[in-house]
Amino acid sequence: MTLSSAPGKVYLFGEHAVVYGEPAVPCAIERRARVGVEQRSDGKLRVHAEDLSLDGFTVEYGGDTNDRPDVDVAENLVDAAMGYVDGAIEQVRDATGEPEVGFDVTIESDIPLGAGLGSSAAVVVAAIDAATRELGVTLEREEIADRAFRTEYDVQDGQASRADTFCSAVGGAVRVEGEDCRAIEAPDLPIVVGFDGGAGDTGALVAGVRALREEYDFAADTVEAIGDVVRNGEKALAAGDLEELGRLMDFNHGLLSALDVSARTLDTMVWAARDAGAYGAKLTGAGGGGCIVALDPTEATETALKFTPGCEDAFRAALAEDGVKRLE
Ligand code: MEV
Repeated sequence: MTLSSAPGKVYLFGEHAVVYGEPAVPCAIERRARVGVEQRSDGKLRVHAEDLSLDGFTVEYGGDTNDRPDVDVAENLVDAAMGYVDGAIEQVRDATGEPEVGFDVTIESDIPLGAGLGSSAAVVVAAIDAATRELGVTLEREEIADRAFRTEYDVQDGQASRADTFCSAVGGAVRVEGEDCRAIEAPDLPIVVGFDGGAGDTGALVAGVRALREEYDFAADTVEAIGDVVRNGEKALAAGDLEELGRLMDFNHGLLSALDVSARTLDTMVWAARDAGAYGAKLTGAGGGGCIVALDPTEATETALKFTPGCEDAFRAALAEDGVKRLE
C-alpha cells in the first residue's frame, strides 16, 4: 500500500472573491486527510472512507460507483466525496498513462466534510499523490496541485479557484490570484476554529454569489472590496500585526455576509469569538454552515465557543508547514 496525507486549510482572507480573480490567502492547518492506495488487478475502484467528520462515521462503497453507500449523512456530501475520489483517480490514470488501472482506496480524515476546511482538496491531493506513487510515478507538488484543481473544477462544474488545492499540496500560508499561486511567509498565527456541525454546498454557494454578482452592482463591488481587504491583509501578515489582521478578518466576514453566504450559526460563533476578545473572526470557506476562524492567543475564544449554542466543536489549529506528506 502507498500512503499520503494532505492538510486542510482555513481562509484568512478572500474566499469566493478568488473565484473572480481577486487574491486570497488560505493557510494550511494540521488537520489531515490520509489516503492509502493499493493497485487492483481487475481495474475496479473501491473506496473505503472513515472519520469524514469530527464525529466520525463510515462511508463504504465498492465496485462501480452506482452502489449507494449506506450512511447517515446528507446525500449531496456523499455524492460529492465519491465524485472527488473518482475525479482524482481519473487524473492518476491520465498522469501515469494507465487508463484502465483500478485501486482500493482507503480514506481517513479528521477534516469535517464540506465545512470550509478544505476536506475535498485534501482528499484529492493525497489520493493523487498516493495513487501515482503506487504506480511508480512521483509528481512535483505543483503538478499535484494542478491536477487536484482540475478535479475540483470538474466536480464543481467549473466553479473553483486554485486556492484550496494549491494550499493543501504545498502547505503553509499561500497567496492565490488567478493562475498565480505562491507560498508566503506567515507568523505563528493563534488560529481557533469553531464548527457548527454542519456543512455548506460549495457549488450552490458559489453559484449563488455568481448570480448575485450578475444581478446587482453592489455584489460585484463587494467582490472587489474583498480583494482590497485581502491586499491589506497581506501587508498585516507580512508585518505580523495580529490586531490589524483580526480587524480585516472582521471586515471580510461582513462582506461575505453581504454576499449572502453566512449563516446564523456562523454569525453567532463569529460574535462569540469577538466578544471573548479574539483579534477578529470570520467564516472560512464557502459558508452556508461549517466553520469559522478566529485569532486569539488566549484560551478565551475556544472556551467561549464551546459554550456557544450551535457550536459543536472548537479547537486550536496549528499552521501545517508541510503540504502533501509521503508516509509509506
Ligand atoms: C471554497 O473552499 C472556497 C471558494 O472560494 C471556492 C473556490 O475558491 O474554489 C468558495
